[in-house]
Amino acid sequence: MPEHPVPKAGLEGVIASDTAICNVDEEKSELYYRGYSITDLARHSTFEETAFLLLEGKLPSAKELKEFHKTLSAARQLPAEVEEVLRWLPPATDPMDALKVAVGVLEATSREADSNSFADNRKKAIRLISRMPVIIAAQYHISRQKTVIKPRTDLSHAANFLYMLHGKEPDDFTSKALDTSLILYAEHELNASTFAARITASTLSDMHSAVITAIGTLKGPLHGGANEKAMEMLIEIGEPGKAEAWIQNAISRKHRIMGFGHRVYKKGDPRNPFIKKIAGKLGRRLGNTRWFEISEIVEKVIDREKGLHPNLDFYSSSAYYLLDIPISLYTPLFAAARVTGWTAHIMEQHADNRLIRPRGNYTGPKKRKYVPLKKRG
Ligand code: ACO
Repeated sequence: MPEHPVPKAGLEGVIASDTAICNVDEEKSELYYRGYSITDLARHSTFEETAFLLLEGKLPSAKELKEFHKTLSAARQLPAEVEEVLRWLPPATDPMDALKVAVGVLEATSREADSNSFADNRKKAIRLISRMPVIIAAQYHISRQKTVIKPRTDLSHAANFLYMLHGKEPDDFTSKALDTSLILYAEHELNASTFAARITASTLSDMHSAVITAIGTLKGPLHGGANEKAMEMLIEIGEPGKAEAWIQNAISRKHRIMGFGHRVYKKGDPRNPFIKKIAGKLGRRLGNTRWFEISEIVEKVIDREKGLHPNLDFYSSSAYYLLDIPISLYTPLFAAARVTGWTAHIMEQHADNRLIRPRGNYTGPKKRKYVPLKKRG
């Protein structure tokens, strides 16, 4: 028997921390933010209200929400240094890498950089939530030698991002579609990026450093990077008539199908019905149902052949495509929404901290005799 019990690979099933932010009921495929069902939040809330809920632990009053919206939109203006540093990056820089750099500059220009107090962390959280979409849109234009479109304070969080990206104010349906996807992406318990953020915070490092850790963790295709890969797959499939054969071939080659499967939800992702509905509606509204038709065939074949279900990333990909969002921005947008959960978790970690430092189960050779270099041959 080992001295310590060894968990399953990938820490599957391990409860790593108490948290009052999010609860996942894997048996019933249900998800709750601060005790509120994702079904109610996706149907009735806004991103701003959900962000307030995640940070403060309660739904805002009308006055509190108005105030929160004002603070959030007033913080949209980036420090000049951020744009300046973005201009120094090679144009081909991955937008997730640019995001890490920009968040580092936000830290360097923050008056509260060194403080982990609740009040200062709250200020930093609001600024990060407000500014990450602004950074993404700014870097997109800068990397194409285009003029950065200034943020507006009169638009919602989602509408302002689309405005800064496309240079025109989106209609209500379009901005609501993005708003709902941001609610769905905002938080998800101890997923890899949030856990990584909590590890960094547990060393009493600062919020920006923990967020940079999280961005780097989200970037991988097994986590946030899946939404971009899923869209690339749909484009490669090209038309509904080719979907079944394409997937059968991918399965026979033992390829991972991006946007399918989940560590926790084995019976289906509770966020999927909402994003699927959005993707379908966007397609019908724009008279372009091709991506939805391909997606439904892919979903059916993977369920039949592998018993796997789509996760949030799958239908997000075609929804974002129809919102005319460039593919390279899908994972950054995921980060821009999830920074809400990350910052809530960083504050929770700082409020009741103990260093996260697990043990390794050593599997290498033991007690080897050191041979001096000259005698090694
Ligand atoms: N395509 C094909 N096979 C898959 C997939 C998939 N998407 N997901 C799991 N499997 C198979 C594996 O090959 C493995 O089969 P085997 O036992 O025959 O080898 C089995 O299912 C178990 O796979 P694991 O990787 O051990 O399952 P885990 O719980 O660790 O995986 C994960 C979860 C990483 C999300 C996985 O399902 C995957 O790689 N999905 C694709 C990437 C993706 O969509 N990521 C987004 C996650 S959700 C989010 O970030 C919003």
